[in-house]
Amino acid sequence: MVTPEKLLIERLAPAFAQVAGMPADPSMRRGRHADFQCDGALALSRRLGRDAREIAAEVLRYAVLDDVCSAVEISGPGFVNLTLAPTGLGRLLAGIAADERLGVPRTARPETIVVDYSGPNTAKEMHVGHLRSTIIGDAAVRVLEWQGHTVLRRNHLGDWGTPFGMLIEHLLDIGETEAAHELSVGDLTGFYQAARRAFDADEAFRVRSRERVVALQAGDPTTLRLWRVLVTESKKYFMAVYARLGVRLTADDFFGESRYNNELPPLVKELAELGLLRESAGAQCVFPAGFVNRDGEPLPLIVRKGDGGFGYAATDLATLRHRLRDLAADRLLYVVGTPQSEHLAMVFATARDAGWHGAAADGAGPTAGDAGPPRAPTRVEHVDFGYVLGSDGKILRTRAGASVKLVDLLDEAVARAAATIAEKDPDLDADARAALARAVGIGAVKYADLSGDRRKDYRFDYDRMLSLDGNTAPYLQYAHARIRSIFARAAIEAPRVASGPLVIREPAERALALRLLAFPDVIEEVGESLRFHRLTHHLFELATAFTGFYENCPVLRSEGEIRHSRLVLCDLTARTLARGLDLLGIETPERM
Ligand code: ARG
Repeated sequence: MVTPEKLLIERLAPAFAQVAGMPADPSMRRGRHADFQCDGALALSRRLGRDAREIAAEVLRYAVLDDVCSAVEISGPGFVNLTLAPTGLGRLLAGIAADERLGVPRTARPETIVVDYSGPNTAKEMHVGHLRSTIIGDAAVRVLEWQGHTVLRRNHLGDWGTPFGMLIEHLLDIGETEAAHELSVGDLTGFYQAARRAFDADEAFRVRSRERVVALQAGDPTTLRLWRVLVTESKKYFMAVYARLGVRLTADDFFGESRYNNELPPLVKELAELGLLRESAGAQCVFPAGFVNRDGEPLPLIVRKGDGGFGYAATDLATLRHRLRDLAADRLLYVVGTPQSEHLAMVFATARDAGWHGAAADGAGPTAGDAGPPRAPTRVEHVDFGYVLGSDGKILRTRAGASVKLVDLLDEAVARAAATIAEKDPDLDADARAALARAVGIGAVKYADLSGDRRKDYRFDYDRMLSLDGNTAPYLQYAHARIRSIFARAAIEAPRVASGPLVIREPAERALALRLLAFPDVIEEVGESLRFHRLTHHLFELATAFTGFYENCPVLRSEGEIRHSRLVLCDLTARTLARGLDLLGIETPERM
């Protein structure tokens, strides 16, 4: 599907090539004085050493624009300002209205993309960092899948390591049934803290715990069985949280740390053979170039501890090695908080030093007779995000100073939404109210998370996120439901197909049209940058443009092709809002 930018570039590119005597880029952006502005002549003037206005004038002599633009002007030092002709706009709109995918193409180069997200820890409560990772990761999965990529979801569950010694001993102390109960009902904090207390207070417990770690690592069957109880019950609980959140993670997406356990000894062997391992304070470490502490000393990534044990970094190295070598992925995304930036950067740097990126290209490269180009090296990206802050501007904690339980936040948001709904619409039956409250409450939490630049911290503020005014989920959900109600009240089907171009005459129609046509480019950009606030911003502007349109352009009271055209615009807006929100994991109720 053609967007206005692409259409104008298509028309201008041959003219630029003719003037330049070689391909030249007619780059286009949204203009302030016209719909679009092209600064290609300025770039070319530097290359050709000629006046930019002169170049622009020559380009316009060659370019065929009459049928798509109503005004074309050269401005300032040599910008070309382009205003789309109403029929051109109307034609493009009719095209996207008839398209199930709203003009968003399936990608021409489908990739295999691994998304590492959520990653809670067994027998430990999920905290708001896991909430952010889960919400952002889910949005990434939805957008990339919709673009037509193959997405492999990886929930890097913390299910291995030294804490399991004390967790298993505590499980034995309170009895398996009680332990399973506590974990499955979500009392993970209580369970973990009790184990911790016993460990701190009781020397005998400490000894038992250490022996238990050894037994676990040696594969002792009883110990493994108990370990499995902990992991299974915790997974059940996490699945309940995911169901409540409405994210796409399934039970099959758990790829816990323990899975890479057998790959740790070969990892150490390989790093040693590559000459990347050095002993430091009894531990086996790699020192990737460029990472130093405050005193300028090289920073170690600990691969094997002095006692022979492996830690978080070793597992991440083994995981990355596996993903690069065995999954033949084009892109790896790590949706993990900013505090782990350095850790991940060191893991990624070690992978480069070890040559694992190249290994993937070799393994999946063209075989004899296959003339295709070799696969590009895998892109490995840290999709980082900041902290969630409380109303005091400090890292979100309970009054007692503990980290906040994620489910409590969700429950509170849903409860508040339910109270507002009960007040506004007391006749709504209980089931409908619960469903609506869930859509609004959970949607509000997700939208608040995704609508700011993810790298920044954000304040968790129920009043703001649940407000019906402003850049919030409820505002957009309401805008969507209001459009749907236009059709419901008039008892008409939403028209999708227009016989000719849509009629775009009023300024408010034009503003809405340009927003609708920009959706494909926004999706393309977000699939690349994974900066979802660009999408939320776009949807917010779209809803605002719709309000302007609806206030200025009568829909049901107009007639003939104008009425039809406006009904198509209404429906297209509703569909774009619904699709956009769905890509963020947010529901759009038909009525509110
Ligand atoms: N379990 C980790 C934590 O709670 C997050 C895992 C992130 N993914 C990874 N491959 N390191 O901090």
